[in-house]
Amino acid sequence: MVETPKAVIQLLPKSEKSKYHSLLSVIFFFPLTLSLAFSVYAFLVLGRQKPKYILAEDSVTVREVDHLKIVNVSRMWYYQSKLLATSSENIAIQTPWLAPIVWDGTFQIKILNQQFRLQNVSIGLVVFATGEYVAFLKAFLQTAETYFMEGHRVKYYIFTDQPASVPLVKPSKGRQMVILEAQASAHPLNTYIYRMEVISLFSQERFAKEVDYLVCAHVNMVFCNSVGVEILSSLFGTLHPLFFEFPRQMLAYERQPQSQAYISEDEGDFYYSGAFFGGKVLEVYRLTKLCYQAMMLDQAAHIQVMRHDESYLNKYLLHNKPTKVLSPEYMWNKEFLNRQRFLEEFINGEMFANVLYVIAYEVKVMLKSQGQES
Ligand SMILES: *[C@@H]1O[C@H](CO)[C@@H](O)[C@H](O)[C@H]1NC(C)=O
Ligand SMILES: *[C@@H]1O[C@H](CO)[C@@H](O)[C@H](O)[C@H]1NC(C)=O
Repeated sequence: MVETPKAVIQLLPKSEKSKYHSLLSVIFFFPLTLSLAFSVYAFLVLGRQKPKYILAEDSVTVREVDHLKIVNVSRMWYYQSKLLATSSENIAIQTPWLAPIVWDGTFQIKILNQQFRLQNVSIGLVVFATGEYVAFLKAFLQTAETYFMEGHRVKYYIFTDQPASVPLVKPSKGRQMVILEAQASAHPLNTYIYRMEVISLFSQERFAKEVDYLVCAHVNMVFCNSVGVEILSSLFGTLHPLFFEFPRQMLAYERQPQSQAYISEDEGDFYYSGAFFGGKVLEVYRLTKLCYQAMMLDQAAHIQVMRHDESYLNKYLLHNKPTKVLSPEYMWNKEFLNRQRFLEEFINGEMFANVLYVIAYEVKVMLKSQGQES
């Protein structure tokens, strides 16, 4: 039962009849009608010039109440952390909103593994393999078996239009594979919209009951090194390897003001990759639902954005700051050592075609070594 607060009741006017009543009505209601009319006018006319950005709306629910149990970490051996690090690596390990930026060497996986094991967390790895992308599944799953969340409970959620072509990769103990039917679309744009829609629907109806965290990955990647529970948090995004230290006006954000994904040149933290993001199921649900709605609005208005779903993800993460940020090590590719070439292709719009063939993504190659080599 919700009680009406007393103060509100007292403020309500008593229904007294007086000779001033009608005059008062005019005084009160004339301006009210006027402002209402203006609101309608503003909505209809000005609204068209200044779109309402749904990805920038206040988040009402979000940060999920943590349902994971409190656990005691047992005695174990590891290096003591230093408060005054004499690190030569010139890297930021925290965002301005105090979210960790995860780099190799900034955490002790032993501690995290025990914590997450005691909490018995389960992780869903969501991947879409429709059309010719089915060809990438085998390498993706085989390397995930070796490197993804080793020793933890994992559920692979594979969305595909060709269930019969899913390779026979037998998941190891504690891991499960779920094959889900998905539509293939001839138009890539529809594929991006569909993916957001499907993830949001399944998060609400199924994933929330089955797993604690969701990790959404593109299928044309392989895991080349351990990717473990250090990435898990309420909401995480990954720094795009081509843009990690660029000034904000050079980031590949959407620049058409009429688009839902629009970010102005004086805004922006990082450029996040659309190929690897995740978090608690409720957070992923909200992210994918809002991105889906924003994409539908833009599609209805015939607005085409530069980077498809990634543009909307970046807008969302600008206004809903991630609680953890993964360094570009998590999206690395040896080829990126020649980043200039990739950037040129990217600017010329060739990148999309390329990505399809690049499967040698190397996850977790330290940037430090890039610095040493170049
Ligand atoms: C953690 O350890 C303390 C001290 O040994 C104990 O009192 C507490 O019950 C433990 N908590 C859990 C959740 O096991
Ligand atoms: C972890 O959770 C699963 C599924 O709920 C359950 O079957 C299993 O017994 C749990 N393991 C532990 C150690 O609590």
